[in-house]
Amino acid sequence: MGKVSENGENAGRGRLIALEGIDGSGKSTQAAYLCARLEREGISYYRTMEPTDSPIGALIRKILRGEMKTDNRVIAGLFVADRLDHLLNAADGIAAKVEAGMTVVSDRYYFSSYAYNSVDMPMDWVIKANEPSSEILRPAVNVFIDVDPDVALERIAKNRVRQELFETKARLELVRDNYRKAFRLLEEKERCVIIDGNRPEEEIAENVWEAVRDCIFEDSK
Ligand code: ADP
Ligand code: TYD
Repeated sequence: MGKVSENGENAGRGRLIALEGIDGSGKSTQAAYLCARLEREGISYYRTMEPTDSPIGALIRKILRGEMKTDNRVIAGLFVADRLDHLLNAADGIAAKVEAGMTVVSDRYYFSSYAYNSVDMPMDWVIKANEPSSEILRPAVNVFIDVDPDVALERIAKNRVRQELFETKARLELVRDNYRKAFRLLEEKERCVIIDGNRPEEEIAENVWEAVRDCIFEDSK
């Protein structure tokens, strides 16, 4: 079981928190802030990400690096398989961790598929293909760090080799639009919180914590 938080609320029930956003939006930065906060609150957590470091995740990264070519439907299917393995694998599947009372913080989950893989195929198809995962584990909240594509590109450029700027920006804009479309489509099924990510890290982290804290308090009512 998870621990009881200092403020007396029962934080023992497990849950998944999904962090979402375009590349360079600051998800992994915010995952680190959130986990540090959970630690301070005495809530047991597990930090993870998709694509995973499983053999399926490794294959996906190979394709993303352009070292292997395949059809877009195959890539979308690999993300579906990687997610199911992330949930169910016997060694460290997150479904069992949530069941055991942990707060799992994942850098990306199925909304990433809805946003990215719907650039190349119908969003309905991608949502349908991910139904097994949503049936196994729906996030307590999907936190979308919303960043202007220009800001995201500036951040990426600081870290990595600059890419084809125009193409990359056009793609990030499409992905951002798809996120918003998916949140609208699924607003009755999914809890989504959109946070302005064009601000200093600490301010964003405070808003992320508020969104997560609300879920934890609600759970324990
Ligand atoms: P993601 O995981 O979404 O790709 P990262 O957390 O790796 O994004 O952040 C991308 C880059 O932007 C990193 O160099 C990080 O230090 C920087 N960064 C993250 N959040 C902010 C912020 N709020 N303001 C300025 N720079 C940021
Ligand atoms: P990631 O390593 O999170 O990239 P970044 O740190 O730049 O945000 O994800 C790798 C890429 O995989 C990213 O461009 C988003 C994409 N992706 C999909 O296309 N579908 C998915 O289901 C997931 C989880 C990621």
